Amino acid sequence: MMNFSSPNFPLSRMRRLRGSAELRALVRETHLSPNDFCYPLFVVPGENLAQPIGALPGQNRWSVDKVIGEVAAAMAEGIRSVILFGLPESKDSEGSQAFSSEAPVQRAVRELKRSFPNLVVMTDVCLCQYTDHGHCGPLCGHTVDNDAALEILAKTAVSHAQAGADLVAPSDMMDGRVAAIRAALDQSGFKDTGILSYAVKFASAYYGPFREAADSKPSFGDRRSYQMDSANRREALREAALDVQEGADWLMVKPALAYLDILRDLREHFALPLACYNVSGEYSMLKAAAANGWLDEKLVTLETLLSMKRAGADLILTYHAREAARWLA
Ligand code: PBG
Ligand code: ZN
Repeated sequence: MMNFSSPNFPLSRMRRLRGSAELRALVRETHLSPNDFCYPLFVVPGENLAQPIGALPGQNRWSVDKVIGEVAAAMAEGIRSVILFGLPESKDSEGSQAFSSEAPVQRAVRELKRSFPNLVVMTDVCLCQYTDHGHCGPLCGHTVDNDAALEILAKTAVSHAQAGADLVAPSDMMDGRVAAIRAALDQSGFKDTGILSYAVKFASAYYGPFREAADSKPSFGDRRSYQMDSANRREALREAALDVQEGADWLMVKPALAYLDILRDLREHFALPLACYNVSGEYSMLKAAAANGWLDEKLVTLETLLSMKRAGADLILTYHAREAARWLA
């Protein structure tokens, strides 16, 4: 043996507990299960549609009749929750199809809760898929009119609750939206409908594929006047604290992978359940690398999802949900 001295070696040998799969399993600190995943789904008008989304390989836009089968398959694999995004029949400057009781999201919620009463159904509450300019609320000059957006967002949340959503998830980043939505839900008799707030949502280039899927790209400018600056960590705590005061039941950080430090910060500062959104660009990066044979898809996907759990997420919104659930089975 080489002649050297160390205060801990050879007394301590970290490899002792890594020697077999069984030992490693006994000392593993973080576990992934299908329970950890919420499956995002895009619903569109029409019937009998499963339209592949180019930038999200393996994901489709579903008509309401077809989304039922997709969810049945996901539930059989152990998935217990979904979050719905909708594309409307038509768009206008205010995004008024967002609160139509006959729009795809509202119809899908009713059908899903009828078919699967135990499924946890969440809905994304935002207006960018519904406005003709692609911003997350009505405009005032070249920016979104915060206070005018609140009213439409609150109506939208109530329409989702009316359809039977268990939780509404506002993703617009308007100030005061959690309070406005909580008040509107309570006044409409939906005191038990929860709010999962996209409390800390950064202006991110990782949303690219989603905007193709949801046809929600802003027609001018970007979302930097309402979504957070990627550089800011203390501001994330302020955003989360405000949403807690306004009545959020559950907090989310989005995106996930490039923001695991923020997820850990929230875990340490708040006792609320915590979610993260493993967004479209994060999914597409792995799919593209795997398709080229550059990465082992199963291993890299599970490692990525595990990192989110380890950073502090209780729930991961992920397009990998079904595949990952199968790999974990
Ligand atoms: C709507 C919304 C977006 C995402 C979820 N809700 C896009 C955006 O803010 O531009 C992104 C999800 C993803 O990239 O998978 N505001
Ligand atoms: Zn939006």
